[in-house]
Amino acid sequence: IYKDSGEACRAVAQEIASLIRIKQTKGEIAVLGLATGSTPTRLYGELVRMHKEEGLSFRNVVTFNLDEYYPMNPDALQSYVRFMNEYLFDHIDIDKHNIHIPDGTIDIKDVSRFCFEYERKIAEVGGLDLQILGIGRTGHIGFNEPGSPKDSVTRMITLDHLTRVDAASDFFGEENVPRTAITMGVGTILKSRRIILMAWGEGKAKIIKTTVEGQITDSVPATFLQTHHNATIVLDEAASAELT
Ligand code: F6R
Repeated sequence: IYKDSGEACRAVAQEIASLIRIKQTKGEIAVLGLATGSTPTRLYGELVRMHKEEGLSFRNVVTFNLDEYYPMNPDALQSYVRFMNEYLFDHIDIDKHNIHIPDGTIDIKDVSRFCFEYERKIAEVGGLDLQILGIGRTGHIGFNEPGSPKDSVTRMITLDHLTRVDAASDFFGEENVPRTAITMGVGTILKSRRIILMAWGEGKAKIIKTTVEGQITDSVPATFLQTHHNATIVLDEAASAELT
């Protein structure tokens, strides 16, 4: 628990930077799982600063984003491709070939093949070293809404009503929020060697309490993180307010 999200993001950025540097000295790649949304924006800002001011290089970094709305044009305001370029990728020296984000433009009949390939690509580079997560008020991680099994893999899902309500302002009205998305599964996330879930503000306090102290259940997919051997929940004071 940190005083505020700025301090928390600096600490998480330090951990990411040291992972990248350790891998660099060994001549290895660092495989990062990344999230979008309001939660990680300051984290990405700090990584960009470290690249510009401290020479942190991302040449050996391979990334896999958690999710994307479906359907979604990559140029649209709400696209996670656009988000990642704007907050991170356009400002660092990552090789664009090393960036993976679920494709919101593929034909519906090709979605399951795409998802299978996404899993295969993660496995091909040796699995995720570190997965960054936010959390939705439904308890979703990625877009694994309530009902998502512990062993679920990358797939198309139906967004929960509450998630669509929370996204309404980004889409200028709930009716414009897509009903579906492509997301890594809970199982995909749990295979990561290290997981950091971040949450800020009082609006997340209730779901954080359930995630940390509640029973493990697919009604709150984030509770599956309790079973991971190397997961940390990073909070500001407001998000921690309901913890006992
Ligand atoms: C985004 C993602 C979601 C968000 C969650 C919280 O890639 O996977 O699980 O992390 O919906 O969103 P914010 O950060 O906007 O509160």
